[in-house]
Amino acid sequence: MSDRFEKTGIDENELVAIARKFAGRLDAGGVVFLKGELGAGKTTFARALMSALGVGERIKSPTYSLIESYRSGQQPVHHLDLYRIAHAGELEWLGLPDLLDDRALILVEWPERAGAALPPADLVIELRHAGERRDFSVTAVSAAGLASLQGLRGALAPTVGST
Ligand SMILES: Nc1ncnc2c1ncn2[C@@H]1O[C@H](COP(=O)(O)OP(=O)(O)OP(=O)(O)O)[C@@H](O)[C@H]1O
Ligand SMILES: [Mg+2]
Repeated sequence: MSDRFEKTGIDENELVAIARKFAGRLDAGGVVFLKGELGAGKTTFARALMSALGVGERIKSPTYSLIESYRSGQQPVHHLDLYRIAHAGELEWLGLPDLLDDRALILVEWPERAGAALPPADLVIELRHAGERRDFSVTAVSAAGLASLQGLRGALAPTVGST
């Protein structure tokens, strides 16, 4: 059973299309790390996913606030951008353990900045610059993540090749 999908050389529309396919397949919640350099497309992915979840509000950037929280129906959705934190201790006020309740979905840009202060990921998405395009991958790193990725497999198959 593959725990990873990737697709190389995608444009922004393709990334948005892939992100939208994650909506409705993360109903059980979980933690999704979004990795990649500045401008790689992490926020683009998060916004497309949250928009498809119908968060129903203008989606703000958490660049300065560190976290923006929404609801998709009964499901809390939290979007974090940790680029600006200097050390993991700055995360204490966020009450991260509490965010995990209620089958919440947690999307984290720059998770590397938090070290062990973050809950462990279920899925890790990586974006890399490839000229004008991007290389995309999603890796399941927990049992729940693997279950989500299995659910996604059929939806992603037309656009994303299994590795
Ligand atoms: N294939 C692509 N996928 C995603 N974004 C693309 C793509 N091609 C071009 N772009 C552009 O690259 C930029 C990606 O910006 P975005 O804010 O999503 O990156 P980021 O990874 O969140 O960066 P940061 O680390 O600063 O938060 C946008 O301006 C977008 O229009
Ligand atoms: Mg961003």
